[in-house]
Amino acid sequence: MENALRTQVGIVGAGPAGLMLAHLLYLHGIECIVVEARSRRHIEERVRAGVLEQNTVDLLNRIGIGDRMCREGLLHNGIEIGFQGRRHRIDIAALTGKAITVYAQHEVVKDLVHARLTTGQPIIFEATDLTITGLDTDSPLIRFSENGQSRELSCDFIAGCDGFHGVCRGAIPQDALTIYERIYPFGWLGILAEAVPSQNQLVYMHHDRGFALFSMRSPKVTRLYLQCDPAENISEWSDARIWSELFVRFESSDGWKPNEGRIMQKNVTSMRSFVVEPMQYGRLFLAGDSAHIVPPTGAKGMNLAIADVRFLACGLAAFYKNGQVKSLEQYSAMCLRRVWKVQRFSWWMTSMLHRFPDSNAFDLRRQVAELDYVTSSVAAASSLAENYAGLPLDFEDEWTN
Ligand code: PHB
Repeated sequence: MENALRTQVGIVGAGPAGLMLAHLLYLHGIECIVVEARSRRHIEERVRAGVLEQNTVDLLNRIGIGDRMCREGLLHNGIEIGFQGRRHRIDIAALTGKAITVYAQHEVVKDLVHARLTTGQPIIFEATDLTITGLDTDSPLIRFSENGQSRELSCDFIAGCDGFHGVCRGAIPQDALTIYERIYPFGWLGILAEAVPSQNQLVYMHHDRGFALFSMRSPKVTRLYLQCDPAENISEWSDARIWSELFVRFESSDGWKPNEGRIMQKNVTSMRSFVVEPMQYGRLFLAGDSAHIVPPTGAKGMNLAIADVRFLACGLAAFYKNGQVKSLEQYSAMCLRRVWKVQRFSWWMTSMLHRFPDSNAFDLRRQVAELDYVTSSVAAASSLAENYAGLPLDFEDEWTN
């Protein structure tokens, strides 16, 4: 049948998880096809967080995709945590020997798309009517339409890398899954401003009026966030109102503040913690946001997705090289160990820094005590730094040090 395709691993979704998996499989000599519902332009411009932990940076360098990141990414040795009008530095490099790199997620996506296309490997963009079937057979199928033509891709395995709203998780019988979830009673209003970042460290700021975050995208672009209502109407936030709220929340004893500039983009993001267990069913493996969501405080989403597919690539390599199924069988259990630690960290950072609508004076004092502890105790700061820079992986592969 002309419309029938065949590959070893069918990957649904061309975000960081799907594209990284595709590249790791390519390096292992395993064939795969990536099927993506959106256009190339959409995935390359989708704005997400922008902090790479050391594991991610090292992996990108080792697999030969790190050149532009090394040139354009901003290496940071620490972050600042602020409360009661004072900022305190957490020296991540001194505490952990590791650093973080500020480089936007969509830049990583661009680098991975470029690598895949230059090695002549397929990505099918704008696939519509995507469905997956046959998960408990040896030959699951991905069906979709491409330019109005129906296609059927038969695979040995399917990787569900299609995000929280994708089709893959929904293809698993509901009674085979358990969902763990927390929805936060606030969101983030994010802006990109044409303004030179006024310092070269991120600032996570606790304030009675709500959390604020100072970040950056390049030497000329500042990224800023304000805690807001999850249903906030963005049209009620004029540029002037945004700047005045930012200046109030970042007000510090040393007079530091973000530089003001033209606002190029505004958006509101809701916040949730979400985990589905197990992360596999028959021949389908979920990776990244299709299996788990973290709130953005700590910027762990993409780093966690990449850790998932790194382990999945190991399992698939063991299967194709030696017929071993042990790693694949352990995929979900192995990933979930890290997932839950990262969930804990992201929830903790979020809880420590945000104003909860139902919090009382006790909660506020306890929050301030926690911030004081984290910024004054080497033990507490080390724990934050270790998680922020990235926990060590629980396994080794050919790209481990
Ligand atoms: C960002 O730059 O978009 C960013 C940085 C740190 C975070 C979240 C988002 O924790």
